[in-house]
Amino acid sequence: MILSALKETSLIETRVALSPDSVKLFLRLGFDIILEEGAGLKSGYLDKSYLDVGAKIVKRAECLKADVCLCVRMPNIEDLKNLRQNSVLIGILNPYENKKYFENLNNNNITSCCMELIPRISRAQSMDVLSSQANLSGYRSVIDAAEQFGKAFPMMMTAAGRVNPAKVMILGVGVAGLQAIATAKRLGAVVSATDVRSATKEQVESLGGKFIMVEDEESKNAETNTGYAKEMSDEYKKKQAQLIAETIAKQDIVISTALIPGKKAPILVTAEMIASMNPGSVVVDLAVEAGGNCPLSKINEIVEYNGVKIVGYANMPGKVAKDASALYAKNIYNFLSLLVDKEKKQIFFNFEDEILSSVVLTHLGQIRLEQFK
Ligand code: NAI
Repeated sequence: MILSALKETSLIETRVALSPDSVKLFLRLGFDIILEEGAGLKSGYLDKSYLDVGAKIVKRAECLKADVCLCVRMPNIEDLKNLRQNSVLIGILNPYENKKYFENLNNNNITSCCMELIPRISRAQSMDVLSSQANLSGYRSVIDAAEQFGKAFPMMMTAAGRVNPAKVMILGVGVAGLQAIATAKRLGAVVSATDVRSATKEQVESLGGKFIMVEDEESKNAETNTGYAKEMSDEYKKKQAQLIAETIAKQDIVISTALIPGKKAPILVTAEMIASMNPGSVVVDLAVEAGGNCPLSKINEIVEYNGVKIVGYANMPGKVAKDASALYAKNIYNFLSLLVDKEKKQIFFNFEDEILSSVVLTHLGQIRLEQFK
């Protein structure tokens, strides 16, 4: 069995699907490993570091002919045409936006696995790419905010006077939001946070943050049975906007992370709210790739509005690419371990398994997932 990792072609992608450490694990699963030349360079992994642990470095065309081909983002149409018939493609394939690629995958009978669809069950935690990547995004969002902020985060008592701590507010307390709270606290900020899921209150407080939210009948039922947020009613949104407007004016930093799977991100920070903030404040919109929590944010730009900087970096995990790639590769290893029969050196798809049936998008020329038909 040959397993390959492609060099990413997207200009904003710096991650790679295999780290040198993960190569050792995949070898033990019974794979021969090949990587495209320079695949790990942007993540800080040289070709030599892969060669040293037993992988081979080859051209892209050879990688496309492997039994299992790994990527971070969906490869381009030409690549999909050149994948080996009946092979397996594993990546963060973004099925919501990449529907046009399904036909090409099915033409070659490719079994495609979308790692972002790993179900949120405890058995699958070690495969959960959304968590591993969001965790790093949350950390990095605070570092980027600190870089753009013209003041210090911690309180400092100096002979020349007192420096007040930064006030940081986190909108959306999922995996990224929780790590942002923890990072901002470690830097010495005073942190508050909000979410529509009331279960997050305890988590925020356990990290030393202050929790604020609109609590009403609707918020008691704001979580889907898979743990995600539901889209809220217009009435709730109005009440929430008022609460955020009252709080945001006093904040130095706002980090917004609110997402609803498969939908446009909710607008939480309006231009009026930004105008109410002190000049020099910073907003980091982690939802920018899903349309943004702030209508002013622009992908990969820092927009200035009334002296407030709105940071809209895309692919935040890619700014910590070495760690992000290592965790992603480990997520894939844990997932592939489910499929591989080491003795027979074969891959089996047991669709009785909830993990597999949630993740496999195309198989034997068919689209398997109802929501993408
Ligand atoms: P996400 O990335 O989909 O959304 C980020 C946050 O934004 C969520 O907390 C969501 O409630 C919040 N949000 C959505 N709309 C909002 C609005 N209008 N206003 C304020 N906040 C809003 O969420 P993520 O980080 O993927 O986590 C979702 C849930 O899954 C969490 O409960 C998390 O603890 C859980 N989880 C479970 C795992 C497992 O059991 N394997 C693994 C990872 C996460």
